[in-house]
Amino acid sequence: MTAVKEKRTVDVPVPSDGEFQSENILTVKNLEIYYGEKRAVNGISMDIEKNSVTALIGPSGCGKSTFLRSINRMNDLIPGARAAGEILYEDLNILSENINVTALRKEIGMVFQKPNPFPKSIYDNITHALKFAGIRKKSMLDEMVEESLRKAALWDEVKDRLDRSALSLSGGQQQRLCIARTIAMKPTVILLDEPSSALDPISNAKVEDLIVDLKKDYSIVIVTHNMQQASRISDKTAFFLSGDLVEYDKTEKIFTNPSVTKTEEYISGRFG
Ligand SMILES: Nc1ncnc2c1ncn2[C@@H]1O[C@H](COP(=O)(O)OP(=O)(O)OP(=O)(O)O)[C@@H](O)[C@H]1O
Ligand SMILES: [Mg+2]
Repeated sequence: MTAVKEKRTVDVPVPSDGEFQSENILTVKNLEIYYGEKRAVNGISMDIEKNSVTALIGPSGCGKSTFLRSINRMNDLIPGARAAGEILYEDLNILSENINVTALRKEIGMVFQKPNPFPKSIYDNITHALKFAGIRKKSMLDEMVEESLRKAALWDEVKDRLDRSALSLSGGQQQRLCIARTIAMKPTVILLDEPSSALDPISNAKVEDLIVDLKKDYSIVIVTHNMQQASRISDKTAFFLSGDLVEYDKTEKIFTNPSVTKTEEYISGRFG
């Protein structure tokens, strides 16, 4: 598997003012994203913390998905889309031309709104990309299937029917399978675009618990329209409006004492 770059050893966080400084996994600098002539993201800058959940909120069309897709270069697939500025991933600018995009998308995985398992068995859904990456040994594939399904809190529900079609699973199980498929690639960052908005409340709760659990191993960025969800599961929240990053702070601060009037109006349901 080609690495995006060599992994570096990570510095121990430096204590400051009696607190531990959190470490950033991504640093966004003056990011602009255009679709043709139209600018959808207006020069935003923000840091994304390692091993934390960052929520992106804001009304429809404000640029949340556009921003999220830029983090693993999914916008490359949209004709006419282009980005300016920088997204630093451990000092490497993700937006630069010489990036190995395939390797990048393994390290920065993505899960979409609608569960999109392949019409294959549960087992094959996990192993498909692993085989493509050259892993052939059955024992190793078995191990990776079990590990990623366990991490996605799905193993107990499917361990006796790994050969059944993924499409036989419920929507919530399919979404956890998609998360397992992403985890199998051993990512560092997981991007989730409204991952539970198509799910029933019980499946939604399971996916939320899973996301909170995953942050010990991964850095998570999640787009959500659900204010309760953002306040329940995220550490930091970014409020977007018309392509601008209006406010970005600790989730508790955003939801109890936001600094900007527009944020207050949005989270209290006065628009959007
Ligand atoms: N593929 C595309 N081609 C052209 N314009 C696009 C494309 N995708 C998004 N846009 C435009 O970019 C802007 C931001 O859209 P985006 O999908 O990022 O918003 P969003 O915040 O994710 O909205 P929602 O909450 O509805 O998913 C919108 O004006 C949208 O019309
Ligand atoms: Mg969107």
